[in-house]
Amino acid sequence: MSAPKYLAIVKKIEALIRSGQFKEGSQLPTHRELAQQLGTTPITVAKAYKTLAERKLIESFVGRGSFVCNHSQLSDVIRAESSEPEKNLSILQPCLSQHSERLNQVFSQILNRGNEALYGYVEHTGLARHRLMGAMWARHYGLEVTDHNEVVLASGAQHALSALIQCYTQPGDTIAVEALTYPGILSMANMLGRKVVAVAMDGEGMLPHVLDDLCQSSDIAMVMIVPSHQNPTAATMPAERREQIAAVINRHRVWLVEDDIYGFLNPQPIAAITNFAPQYSFHITSLSKAVSPGMRCAFIKTPATECDRLAAFIRATIWLPSPIPFAAAALLIHSGEAFRIAEEQRQIALHRQQLAREQLAGFTLYSQPDSYHLWLELPAYWQADAFTLAAKNRGILVSSASYFKADPLTVTPDAIRLSLMAIENEPALVSTLNQLAELLKRDTRFDYVHC
Ligand SMILES: Cc1ncc(COP(=O)(O)O)c(C=O)c1O
Repeated sequence: MSAPKYLAIVKKIEALIRSGQFKEGSQLPTHRELAQQLGTTPITVAKAYKTLAERKLIESFVGRGSFVCNHSQLSDVIRAESSEPEKNLSILQPCLSQHSERLNQVFSQILNRGNEALYGYVEHTGLARHRLMGAMWARHYGLEVTDHNEVVLASGAQHALSALIQCYTQPGDTIAVEALTYPGILSMANMLGRKVVAVAMDGEGMLPHVLDDLCQSSDIAMVMIVPSHQNPTAATMPAERREQIAAVINRHRVWLVEDDIYGFLNPQPIAAITNFAPQYSFHITSLSKAVSPGMRCAFIKTPATECDRLAAFIRATIWLPSPIPFAAAALLIHSGEAFRIAEEQRQIALHRQQLAREQLAGFTLYSQPDSYHLWLELPAYWQADAFTLAAKNRGILVSSASYFKADPLTVTPDAIRLSLMAIENEPALVSTLNQLAELLKRDTRFDYVHC
């Protein structure tokens, strides 16, 4: 039996959108026009458009028509600038004012030193001492790494993720991710034509038996996991769960990308998943969350067999990440300052989590005691996108659960992610959380009754 006609239309339009032939924001033909062109009925086209809208590929407006969605998830989630920076609960970054002066000094020190090697081309992907410092940084937070030759430098974790997807998967391949995940992974996979499949999670992160079944039943090219203070749910995998995930990776011999960018927030180091599946795992750390996102310094620990291949890919694409910020990173790591700054940020997060729990008392919150962010389950009368918009209309930026959904066909959980670190000034943070709590308490569904 052939598939229903409306699904064939969905498939065709989806392909045109994904290939860029139907541009973001462009208007689709009306139901009647397309029905005429395809020799079908307007009802069939309407059904196809409804499915495309459910998949968040198009948006339909009464009286105006249907338009290709703007996939601006990343810019929606990662908003560095807002009209009122004191109300930004959206961006996950350290409280920079604590140590920005020290960063100025370190960079001046580096640039005044007349270190010519930093201005030239450097062999491999980076200088040995920078890779050595990367190994030292990652080891401190639970990664087993003895040979710095297995460490490759990248210009931030996002660059690391993109290099790994491009180097180790092909267009059309499937990548397994946490059901709610960092939108940078979703937009990267989408842009590169890789499919993502959502793996169910619980309070400790991705479920090993679900991953196992998936690897058994389908062709999975890569698994991507954020094991600590997961973005967005803040779930942290305990050691036992990590070993179980590693067992699945080893059994199915599938590539694992372990993005441990928030690992420094664990009060005690937790063994990396990579430790238990070193042949198949790439482990990413970065200084973006612990020290400064502007430095763009990330370290990838590769399986012993893969270092040259990944290094060659990075060389072919950008030659190498600039050694200048890595020189600053190496200085901070070697002196121990980077670890102190990271711990200082963890303490700030710890304190802010307590403040947030006071301001948002009575609401259902998920986080670790020292996470940068928390996951807030909305009261039954609020939906995630509607609340995000209502908060935005009051100048407060929060991140809707819809930004993090790996499977666009699933129902969006009624939840939002709140970053507690983007607002530098603590009284301003408390006041913003307070305003948010007021809005959360307001059931606006019946406001029109009073109009
Ligand atoms: C899980 C995760 N990975 C990677 C990144 C990007 O990090 P970087 O600034 O090092 O590129 C982020 C930023 O929010 C993130 O949350």
